[in-house]
Amino acid sequence: MTIKLQAAPVRVVSSPTRAGATTEVHGAASASRADTEPRVELAASHLAMNVQDLAAGFGSFRAVDAISLEIRPRTITAIIGPSGSGKSTFLRCLNRMHEEVKGAWARGTVSLAGQDIYGPGVDPALVRRHVGMVFQKPNPFPTMSIYDNVAAGLRLNQWGRVPDMDERVERALRLAALWDEVKEKLFQSGTALSGGQQQRLCIARALAVEPEILLMDEPASALDPVATLRIEELMRELVRSYTIVIVTHNMQQAARVSDYTAFLMMGEDRAGRLIEQGPTDELFTNPKDSRTEDYITGRFG
Ligand SMILES: Nc1ncnc2c1ncn2[C@@H]1O[C@H](COP(=O)(O)OP(=O)(O)O)[C@@H](O)[C@H]1O
Ligand SMILES: [Mg+2]
Repeated sequence: MTIKLQAAPVRVVSSPTRAGATTEVHGAASASRADTEPRVELAASHLAMNVQDLAAGFGSFRAVDAISLEIRPRTITAIIGPSGSGKSTFLRCLNRMHEEVKGAWARGTVSLAGQDIYGPGVDPALVRRHVGMVFQKPNPFPTMSIYDNVAAGLRLNQWGRVPDMDERVERALRLAALWDEVKEKLFQSGTALSGGQQQRLCIARALAVEPEILLMDEPASALDPVATLRIEELMRELVRSYTIVIVTHNMQQAARVSDYTAFLMMGEDRAGRLIEQGPTDELFTNPKDSRTEDYITGRFG
């Protein structure tokens, strides 16, 4: 099974509700992944993502430069570094969210299971379905119920009817360790939940479309310590089936939760560069670069 990132040719999809009566012609973006494309299992020998010589910025400003990083499947990679060192920009290049900002650009290669997500003909919407994202501030859709928040991604991706929606919503909420807390109030507003629950709801929404990779940008920084711990426990659960890349400014969190760590720092030109990367325990106990050591011991940042 390979991940398909290219827009597929226009195809004819029969409508399950009116089988035999009408057929609907859907464009590439509508191809129903649930029916045609089961979740790809990455072989352990493959890299989940491979970033080579990535540079990205906004207009004439280079926010990150010369970053190469291998991301192994079913691991948590933490991106750490001082504020402004390009952590969020880097993360957003991994699912082509960065280019949503006007004037933003990226060069280099980012491959997902061997395919360059910046290659010709690649559909950014398909990239984002395989590489989901959770943001710093929990952002459930404010006018939607808990159920609809989780269903939203599936509906967007599949243009309408999803035959087994209830099961999929329940599965995503269970994966996000939220089901037991919300199963009696699925049709209440998502914004009535606590901050930690809202963030788990956003994780459920991201997982509903069955991505392979989950990007998390400081997912716990707006949460209290108990809710933070729950998110960290959840990440350790999820990494059994998903590959996770987390940006965190909290070094204790990086040390607790991640398998690999990458340390970014700004150069004199203000572009963020990768100073050091490696297994988390090695980077924190025996950093090779003096700048890493200065940062993790709290001398700056
Ligand atoms: N939308 C934007 N337009 C212009 N510059 C931006 C934008 N977003 C971030 N930057 C700049 O890019 C650099 C890296 O930002 P960011 O990736 O958010 O860093 P971090 O997440 O490490 O704090 C900073 O200098 C920041 O000011
Ligand atoms: Mg950031």
